[in-house]
Amino acid sequence: MNWGKLLAQILPWLAWLLLVPALGIGGPHTGTFSDTTDACAGCHRPHQGQAPGLLTTVSGTSTALCLSCHGSGGVGANTNVEDGIELASGWPLRGGGFANAKMDTQLVYRLISRKVTSSHTMDGSLGTAWGGDGPGAGPRITLECTSCHDPHGNANYRSLRFSPLGSGEQRPVAVVGTFREQIPWPGYTIRGDSYWGQHYTGLEVELSRWCATCHDRFLGEPAQPPDPLFNHVHPSGTVEVYCLSCHVAHGTSARMTTGGSAFSSSMPYPDGRVLPPVRTGDERSALLRLDNRGICVQCHLSSDGQGITRR
Ligand code: HEC
Ligand code: HEC
Ligand code: HEC
Ligand code: HEC
Ligand code: HEC
Ligand code: HEC
Repeated sequence: MNWGKLLAQILPWLAWLLLVPALGIGGPHTGTFSDTTDACAGCHRPHQGQAPGLLTTVSGTSTALCLSCHGSGGVGANTNVEDGIELASGWPLRGGGFANAKMDTQLVYRLISRKVTSSHTMDGSLGTAWGGDGPGAGPRITLECTSCHDPHGNANYRSLRFSPLGSGEQRPVAVVGTFREQIPWPGYTIRGDSYWGQHYTGLEVELSRWCATCHDRFLGEPAQPPDPLFNHVHPSGTVEVYCLSCHVAHGTSARMTTGGSAFSSSMPYPDGRVLPPVRTGDERSALLRLDNRGICVQCHLSSDGQGITRR
């Protein structure tokens, strides 16, 4: 064991542990920085950057940098997005997780940590932004943490970029509202025992418009002339029904339990394939909050009469 080397590795993190409380709620992503800020040093080195952008990590993508604080082995942040939990409280994160998620996908009012079945890509690899500006099923883009989040922080909810990278969005989307009162700030966690029925009071429409910067044609307005792939879409941009009614943002542990060849578990992607590369069974859980199509009956057929619409 090379103690000098070990110490050299640990020291920056010890420094961070002291620094983080001083930085306050948004961590190093403060949006505005003071004249004598120290935050830059959390991520950049002016002469000895290890990755493009003078970043402190050795990997090519910013994701490794983010996970050095926000990952399972990370120190320096409480929001562990790999396991989908807030370390200080043990409660689940709102976005689900990238490797494991603590959710109640069976709606049994008990939160269980399980392996994630589907998630947004975050390692910089290519994927189809389904329903993105056409024609076709959507453009191929790369996705990493900084595609969606501004590493320097901004005025938006969760520092979401006004124009996510790769979205081609010309009109920046502001995700600001009365949420500070509704979701205790920073309020990363879900305190209830269920993962269904999350509230984003005041942010529903904006968040949906934000998702639709990449998934433009999922918003639910009939296209003129008709769009052969996405002409009939479920309402998705209202205060009653919005993207995060049905989906989580990072990843879910929901299961498609009918097996490899039936209903939800073999649903083709918008381009008609069960690719990419082959996704069937649980992998076809599409970031949904509940197993199978449990989400549908929560609004349409709920036996307790609490559903928004009953048909
Ligand atoms: C949480 C990590 C983090 C912190 C803290 C941070 N940066 Fe960055 N910064 C990044 C990342 C990631 C990029 C994108 C690098 C790339 O892909 O080339 C970036 C890019 C930049 C760029 C390139 C232009 C741009 O805006 O994309 C500049 C300049 C910069 N940072 C300066 C700063 C300064 C000055 C500070 C302190 C006030 C700071 N950064 C704090 C992560 C951080
Ligand atoms: C496709 C876009 C997207 C990508 C990629 C993404 N995020 Fe997020 N992230 C979001 C959204 C949207 C929210 C808000 C979720 C909510 O409130 O339900 C969020 C929330 C968060 C939060 C607050 C805690 C939570 O889960 O609610 C943190 C921390 C975070 N993201 C970090 C990251 C890191 C680190 C990465 C890369 C490993 C990443 N994000 C990748 C969109 C994204
Ligand atoms: C040096 C440690 C560190 C690094 C590196 C880091 N973060 Fe954070 N981040 C924090 C801390 C601390 C918080 C405050 C919440 C908490 O304790 O988890 C935070 C909060 C956040 C939030 C929620 C707060 C908000 O802005 O609304 C997001 C989103 C986020 N980080 C994304 C990222 C992304 C993306 C990267 C990579 C570019 C990154 N972080 C890198 C320490 C870090
Ligand atoms: C920066 C562009 C971008 C943004 C913003 C974005 N997505 Fe995505 N999304 C993608 C890409 C690219 C893919 C395909 C690759 C993948 O599966 O990660 C995808 C895939 C998905 C999938 C399918 C996952 C699967 O397993 O098949 C769902 C569901 C989804 N997104 C929902 C959302 C929701 C909800 C939001 C808003 C919280 C959102 N997306 C915001 C780019 C984006
Ligand atoms: C009423 C629930 C519901 C709402 C609201 C909703 N989705 Fe979905 N979404 C689903 C289901 C279910 C799937 C699984 C595929 C299927 O059944 O067609 C899915 C699949 C997806 C996919 C993967 C591609 C595909 O079609 O398989 C993306 C991307 C996506 N949704 C994005 C969004 C975005 C962006 C919004 C908001 C504008 C949104 N969804 C609103 C239920 C919903
Ligand atoms: C968050 C609540 C909510 C969820 C979850 C939900 N719906 Fe809906 N649904 C609505 C509302 C609101 C409307 C529009 C009002 C109406 O038509 O009654 C609607 C309308 C519909 C319509 C009529 C659309 C039209 O164009 O005529 C169908 C069909 C439908 N939903 C099926 C589904 C399916 C299938 C699922 C599961 C994938 C689902 N819904 C999940 C609330 C929801």
